[in-house]
Amino acid sequence: MKSVLRSFLRCKSIEVLQQELTGEGTDKVKLHRALGPTNLVLFGIGVIIGAGIFSVTGSAAGSYAGPAIVLSFVIAGIGCALAGLCYSEFASMVPAAGSAYTYSYLTLGEFFAWVIGWDLVLEYAVGAATVASAWSVYLIKFLGHIGIAFPAQLAASPFSVLTLQDGSKVHGIINIPAIFIVILMSGLLIKGIRESAVFNAVMVAVKVTVVLAFIAVGWSFINPSNHVPFIPPNEGQFGHFGWSGVLRGAAIVFFAYIGFDAVSTAAQEARNPRRDMPIGILVSLLVCTVLYCLFSYVLTGMVSYKQFIGLEGLAPVTVAIEQTPYKVFSLLVEVAILAGFSSVIMILLLGQSRVFYSMSRDGLLPGLFSEIHPKFRTPWKSNILFALFVSAFAGFVPGDVVGHMCSIGTLLAFVMVCLAVIVLRVTKPDVPRQFRVPWVPVVPILGALMCLAMMLALPIDTWIRLAVWLAIGLAIYFFYGRKSSKLQRVSR
Ligand code: ALA
Repeated sequence: MKSVLRSFLRCKSIEVLQQELTGEGTDKVKLHRALGPTNLVLFGIGVIIGAGIFSVTGSAAGSYAGPAIVLSFVIAGIGCALAGLCYSEFASMVPAAGSAYTYSYLTLGEFFAWVIGWDLVLEYAVGAATVASAWSVYLIKFLGHIGIAFPAQLAASPFSVLTLQDGSKVHGIINIPAIFIVILMSGLLIKGIRESAVFNAVMVAVKVTVVLAFIAVGWSFINPSNHVPFIPPNEGQFGHFGWSGVLRGAAIVFFAYIGFDAVSTAAQEARNPRRDMPIGILVSLLVCTVLYCLFSYVLTGMVSYKQFIGLEGLAPVTVAIEQTPYKVFSLLVEVAILAGFSSVIMILLLGQSRVFYSMSRDGLLPGLFSEIHPKFRTPWKSNILFALFVSAFAGFVPGDVVGHMCSIGTLLAFVMVCLAVIVLRVTKPDVPRQFRVPWVPVVPILGALMCLAMMLALPIDTWIRLAVWLAIGLAIYFFYGRKSSKLQRVSR
């Protein structure tokens, strides 16, 4: 029993990690340090702007917050900024590919590190599946607009019930477009980090242009009466309008911010990670928060939030555009959304493979997750395995189920990172930090509390799914990771 407890609490030493990072040359093939600060900021924006803003904003306004969805974005943005500061301190101190997993291993012990590493699968792999499902919805819409009918059953999970044009209801069979995009993006990731960065930069340009154009054009179509009352009165149930609705709205639109931390998983591919990691994380977060607040203000000003009720997963932005004489803009928006979502999927998959790369190097997962391709210098076997796993998820599980799982998993990682900053300030006060969170412990505590509050605002079945997922992870750790951990081998 004692030895189990000891293994749970053993921490990786920061000195060993730093040696591993500087001595990476001991590996014949290592990750390619090709990314500069601009690439990292674009990676951040590339992964942040996606299904959240384009698909979730309308339904969250319609069902929970009304026009006050703008405040929900502010609250979620503040929670992310506080967590983002904590990520930045860690990333500037230990620029390792494992992100929150590695930070926890240094501070809270192997067991918590495992929990976070396992939990990050919910953020990255499940997040990629969620966005792939949303991508499929837009692809079908787009094909329909250009006169190509794609069978609806082949673009939906078997658990989704679809209403056909004649009013009849059928079950989906498999979501083929979602599978396709996951495999395509995995292929690009295998090809190389530089190719992935170039693709991402183009996608970011397209989607940011569309968001800016929507804000600029939509501003003149705002009908001030749509913003009144700004916070619709609560309907008697927690989370249905009023301030509790704003909080639930924040928990739902939190999805739109997910991914900024994925920037930190590219730490071993950055040229100057200690300086550029905080820039990548914080600048991308700031840009997206401003865009989101403006976007949601314009959206709920153009159309009454009530029009979004029951439009879960559909493009609120096209509903708004239909109120204007610029209907052709809808088609452009759909193309931009398809492009934009694909970079989100790509970077989430990148984050996933880099976290498992670190876990595998620490011996907590099999070695194949850290095998680097001799030519492409990417963890290709890991990419292939996740292409299979994520595409199976995207093909067979409904998007809304996986979306909430992704949010709760990410929020849990944020809480742990906020706490870990405080622990490391106490246990390792002298390790140089190029970036320091201000007002420790106030900022990390506030960050942890805000993320916890958003977790509590998520539905109970999401909590149950989180518990089941963690229980599976625990079993794997107990029967595999604990025994094969490098630290275990050292202590034997
Ligand atoms: N933040 C990403 C999105 O909204 C996950 O699609």
